[in-house]
Amino acid sequence: MIIQQLHVESFRNIRSAQLSPGNGLNLIYGQNGSGKTSLLEAIHFLGLGRSFRSHLSQRVIQEGEDKLQLFSRLAAGDDEHKLGLRRFRNGDTEVRMDGERIKKLSLLAEALPIQLITPESFALLFEGPKARRQFIDWGAFHADSSFYLNWMSVRRALKQRNQLLRDKARYQQIAFWDKEFVRYSQVVTEIRKHYVDSLNEQLKGIIGGFLPQVEVRVSFTQGWDSKSDLAELLQTQYERDISLGFTVSGPHKADLRLRVGTLPAQDALSRGQLKLLVCALRIAQGRLLQQQLNKNSIYLVDDLPSELDKQHRKLLLQELVDTHAQVFVTAIDPAAISDSLNFPPDRTFRVERGEVKVIE
Ligand SMILES: Nc1ncnc2c1ncn2[C@@H]1O[C@H](COP(=O)(O)OP(=O)(O)OP(=O)(O)O)[C@@H](O)[C@H]1O
Ligand SMILES: [Mg+2]
Repeated sequence: MIIQQLHVESFRNIRSAQLSPGNGLNLIYGQNGSGKTSLLEAIHFLGLGRSFRSHLSQRVIQEGEDKLQLFSRLAAGDDEHKLGLRRFRNGDTEVRMDGERIKKLSLLAEALPIQLITPESFALLFEGPKARRQFIDWGAFHADSSFYLNWMSVRRALKQRNQLLRDKARYQQIAFWDKEFVRYSQVVTEIRKHYVDSLNEQLKGIIGGFLPQVEVRVSFTQGWDSKSDLAELLQTQYERDISLGFTVSGPHKADLRLRVGTLPAQDALSRGQLKLLVCALRIAQGRLLQQQLNKNSIYLVDDLPSELDKQHRKLLLQELVDTHAQVFVTAIDPAAISDSLNFPPDRTFRVERGEVKVIE
C-alpha cells in the first residue's frame, strides 16, 4: 500500500497539513518539537487506530479541539481507496473506507500494514517479552488469516480460566476451559512457529549486511516446555496456578529470543547495533509480507540518523530503499540523510511549528 495523499487535522501540534508523499523515500526534517514524530504518529494512527506514544489516544487530539481527523488516498497496484478516521474527545473513533463505516480496527491494520521504528519502540523490544510477542503476532496476523480468531479464543479461555483460579474453583470446573485453551493454543503456536521460521530466512541476509561480525540467533519459545504436553502441564500445575491466581504456562508466555553467542542480544550489542538489529527485524517482517501476500508495508523510521554512523546510515537507507516500499524517515538535520544517499529522496518535507511544507 502507498499513501498518495494525506490530510492531518488537529493532531498534536499539527493544526492542518496536506501532503502528497512520494512512492519511495520521504524525508521529513525539522527542529526539536516541530512535529516530525507527530506526523509519523498520525500515519501510524491511521493504520492502527491508536498511537504508539500514548496509550491515552485522546492526548493526541490538539489542545482546545474536540476531535482529530485524518484522511488519505491509498493505492495498491491499480486499486485506489479512501481511508478516513476521526477520533473524538469522548473516545469514539469513526473509521471510513471508501465511504463505508468500518467497525473492526483489525481491518485497518490489514489494509495499511505499518513497520514502525522509533527510539522508544526499539528499547521496548529489549525490555519485557510483551513487545516481542506483539512483534511475532503482527506477522502471524498478516501471514495467516485464521490467526486472529484463534488468538482471541485463547484469550477468552485464558480469561475464564484465570477467573476460576482466583475463585479457587475445583479442577473439574476448570477442565472445560483447559480443553478450549489447549485446542486454540496449539493452532496459535503452530502459526507463530511457522512465522518465526520464515522470518529467520529473511533475516539472515539483512543481518549479514548490517552486523557482519556478530552471529545473531533468533529463536521462538512457545510459552511452555516444548517436551511437555500442554494439557498435562495445566493439570499438574493446577495447585500452583491456584496459589498464584493465574495460568503460568501457555502461549500467552511465548517469546522471541534474540541472542549473540550465549548472551542475550541487549547485553552483547552496542546501542547502534541494537538499533540495526531492530531495523533488520522490521525490514525482514515487511519483506516477508511482500513475498507471502504481495503486500507492501509502509515503513516509519523516526530519527533515523541517531546512534548510527554514516556507513550504517547508508546501509540502512539502502536496505529500506531496496524494499521498494513507501518509507518515511525523520531527522533533525536533513544533511544526516542526504550525506548517506547517492540520490535525492523522492520527496522532502520540512516541518516547522506544526506546519508541513514540501521542499522543491
Ligand atoms: N495534544 C497536543 N496539542 C498540541 N500540541 C501538542 C499536543 N501533544 C504534543 N504537542 C506538542 O507537539 C510538539 C511536537 O512534538 P513532536 O514530538 O512531534 O516533535 P519532533 O519534531 O518529533 O521533535 P524531536 O526532534 O525533539 O523529536 C511538541 O512541542 C509538543 O509539546
Ligand atoms: Mg521526535
